[in-house]
Formats: sequence, structure tokens, C-alpha cells
Amino acid sequence: MSAISVSVRDGIVDRLRTRLADGAVLSGADIGDRYSVDYTGENPHRPVAVVKPGSTDEVAVVLRTCSEFAQPVVVQGGLTGLAGGATPRKGEIAMSLERLNGIEELDPVSMTITARAGTPLQAVQEAAAEAGLLLPLDFGARGSCHIGGAIATNAGGNQVIRFGMARNLVLGLEAVLADGTVISSMNKMLKNNAGYDLKQLFVGTEGTLGVITRVVLRLVPRLSSRCTALCTAESFEHAVTLLRTVQTGLAGSISAYEVMWASYYDKVLEIVETLRSPFADSHSFYVLVETEGVDQSSDAERFESVLAGALESETITDAVIARSEGERQTFWAIRDGVGEITPALSPYVPLDVSMDIVAMPRFLEAFDRALAAELPNSLNLVFGHLGDNNLHLFVTTDHEAQNDRVVELAYGLVGECGGSISAEHGVGSLKRDFLHHSRTSREIDLMGRLKQALDPRGILNPGRVIPG
Ligand code: FAD
Ligand code: LAC
Ligand code: ZN
Repeated sequence: MSAISVSVRDGIVDRLRTRLADGAVLSGADIGDRYSVDYTGENPHRPVAVVKPGSTDEVAVVLRTCSEFAQPVVVQGGLTGLAGGATPRKGEIAMSLERLNGIEELDPVSMTITARAGTPLQAVQEAAAEAGLLLPLDFGARGSCHIGGAIATNAGGNQVIRFGMARNLVLGLEAVLADGTVISSMNKMLKNNAGYDLKQLFVGTEGTLGVITRVVLRLVPRLSSRCTALCTAESFEHAVTLLRTVQTGLAGSISAYEVMWASYYDKVLEIVETLRSPFADSHSFYVLVETEGVDQSSDAERFESVLAGALESETITDAVIARSEGERQTFWAIRDGVGEITPALSPYVPLDVSMDIVAMPRFLEAFDRALAAELPNSLNLVFGHLGDNNLHLFVTTDHEAQNDRVVELAYGLVGECGGSISAEHGVGSLKRDFLHHSRTSREIDLMGRLKQALDPRGILNPGRVIPG
């Protein structure tokens, strides 16, 4: 058995070498560890070979060849994913898009940018900024993740409340199917109802239906004024009331609304020694509110007056407005402190769930009760993009062996609350077996039929998102 699979594998690697440019195929010791696992670090596997196509045509050649050999392929962007989707499984070839890199066009009149899939998100943001425009998609992995990976996972981030998820910014896209067929939908128009919107097959489907090779993204004008505040509230209901108050009072200008439960806020300040809370006392909830507009002085006046009203009505108990970019950065450093505290908290389970805001207190109470009963030493640190219905929970455990139980408890309760087991990070391989908590069997069946239609040999990211 192993002799046959080794000879097939050898055959395909040689075939790929003859069909691709020199240096595009790595095998044996040349592969190293870089392509073995995504950001989660879970279940690493060295791929049998790494191919690095430098053009759409080369992506098509790789997939056509893998189809001929029924060779499974895992698609890799910047490997910053948090769901295990880009981590190779045994016997897979990894196709890294790192050489498919570069901005093809910035069109200031249409306000679009066209980029190859392997371009880092930050490079796309910077190209837009140079033209006085904004790509309103941003999150912590900006320097390493690819724009193609961000679209394949339909990433969210901190500005979703205003601009939507990655999907909302994609006007056009080019992808290659498992058999090597290139589908080019490089549309630049906001309106185009001529038939099925085929690009949606590839947005958020995590590389299971095709490989994204190029994209056209919508840009927006870069705004010139910004107001940022950190507010405190003493109940979840007050944090929600503040959300609705600022959405009404600062209509259309809210660009971030991030909520931190005291469990998370206190832990960040305890572990990250360089950070200081701007408040003398402890509070139950901390809310980071940010707006963007066009006139600093009138925007600041309105911002302060809406927060003053919230203080007067006792929706919030305190508020600090950032008076400098440095102060603003400190507020964001507390919010983004998750990246700095996790090494000190290992082992832990990161969860990314969403549900109706009304269901959140019930979910959190039930989850905390279940943790206290079964894993009394665990800590549940909660924060999230409240305006997007999205909670992040970091649950610490005594031993890694307990992590599976945390996941079972959480996803079972998410299902009971009608929520989603993945708000923004995707399903990949790590959440695949829990999909039924958020999707009906008919929905999962239909996903399988789409997969079968587009990838009948099941070579593309097999076993991710849906069973297969
Ligand atoms: P990879 O990790 O390489 O791949 C992810 C998935 O996409 C895999 O299934 C892979 O097969 C597939 N894929 C990659 N490229 C392609 C392609 N060209 N065509 C088809 N399929 C492809 N996410 C959020 O939504 N919001 C956040 O706020 C957020 N913050 C983060 C902060 C940090 C510090 C980190 C490490 C991650 C964060 N993420 C966040 C996760 C986010 O999903 C990933 O960073 C990003 O979307 C994946 O990009 P990547 O290029 O690294 O893809
Ligand atoms: C964040 C990532 C974890 O919101 O999604 O910080
Ligand atoms: Zn997030």
C-alpha cells in the first residue's frame, strides 16, 4: 500500500516539476516547517510537497495535474487562519499562493483596487491609503494574512459594524476550480444582476470550492476626523443601550464598537505590564467606541454631547475620550491585548461565536454555570464585536485534555441559543464536526452537493468545513 502511494506521489511531484517554472516545487528537506500548520499550531503535518504557482495559469496547471492524479491539495495563504483549514492533512500537497503577489491596478475613479490573491492585506491597505482611499477591512493579522485568505474566510475585524465583512467589499474575483478551469468574474460594478453571483461561491467557503487568484475590491474615501472613547457600564443591558444610543446619536459614523467584560479587561491589565487602565475603579463592562467623519471639531462636539447624555441617563458610569493618538493606541492595545496574554494562559480554548444580542446573557450564564460545575479552575475571558453579534471567549483549562469538553459545552449551548459556532474565523477542520449545531442537515447536504458539483474528485481542501 505505501509503495503504491509513494510511487504515485513521486509521479506527481515530477510531473508538477516539468509543468511549472523552476523552483516552484519544493519536496523533501527543502520544505521545512513553515507550511505544516496555521496560526492555531494544532495538528501539524508536513505536506508531501509544496507548490508555489506564480500566475493564475500555474494555479490551473497545479489543480489540473492534481485532479489527474486524484491528489489532495491544501490551499495556503498567509497561514494566519484560526480554524485549521490551511493545515495539511496526511498525504496532501500544499499550494502556497505567496508568489501570486502584487497590486495590479488602483482605479481612483471607480474607487477599486485589483490585487493578486497572495498580496498581504496590509500591502493592499497601504496602496489604497497612498491614493487617499481606504480599504475598510482590518484585523490583527494584517501584516501576514493574504487578501485571498481574508476573502476565502470572509474575515471580519473591527470595522464590520460600518462596512460589513470582507464579502461586502468584493466586487470581482477570479478563481480556479479543482479541475483547473479558470472562472473570471473581475467585475468592477456595484450593480450586476446578470445571472448568478458566482463570486459568492468562493467568498467564505475556505478554499473548498475553488482557489481565489485575483480580486477586485471596493474602496471608500479616507475620512479625516476620528473620535475614540473608552466607557464603562455596570450591566450588559447598559452596554447594549449605549450601542443603540450611539448608533442613533452619531448616525452612520460609528466605525467600531468593542465590548470587554471585566474578566478579559482585568486579565489584560494584570499580564501586560506596560498597560494602565485610565479608570481609578473597577467596572463590569468596558466599551471602546470609535467614530470617523469629516470635521474634527463638530464631530468631537457631537461625540462628547452624546456621551455626556449617556452619563446623565446613567447608561454609562464613566468615559475617557482619547486626546491624542497615543491615548487612542492605548485603548486599542487593551482591546487587542488578547494576542499578548494568550501565551501566559495556555492551555486555553479560543471561541468565536455569534448569536442574537438578546440571547447573549442567557448563553454566558449557562456556559459559566457549566464550566463552574465541570471545570471549576477554568477562567472565561469574554470580549467581542458586540455590534456584530460576535463574542470571543478565551477559556483557560488545567490540561489540554479538558479543551474538547469546553468546546462541546460551548457549541451545544450556542446551538440551543440559535447561534453560530463561527462568527468570523471560519469552520476549517477544527469546527467541522460541530457544524450541525448551527446548520440544518439539509443545509449541510446542499453544501455537499455544491462541493460534489465543483470538485467531484474531492481533491480541494478535503475534510474542511463539511465532511469529505
Ligand atoms: P490561511 O490561514 O492561509 O487560510 C485560511 C483558509 O483559507 C484555509 O482554509 C485556506 O485553505 C483558505 N485559503 C487561503 N487562501 C486562499 C485562496 N487564495 N483561495 C482559496 N482558499 C484560500 N479574523 C477575523 O475575521 N477577524 C479578526 O478580527 C481576526 N483577527 C485575527 C487576529 C490575529 C492575530 C490572527 C492570527 C488572525 C485573525 N483572524 C481574524 C483570522 C483570519 O481569518 C485570518 O487571519 C485570515 O482571514 C486568513 O488569511 P490567510 O491568508 O492567513 O489564510
Ligand atoms: C479579534 C480576533 C480574535 O477580534 O478575531 O481580536
Ligand atoms: Zn474578532
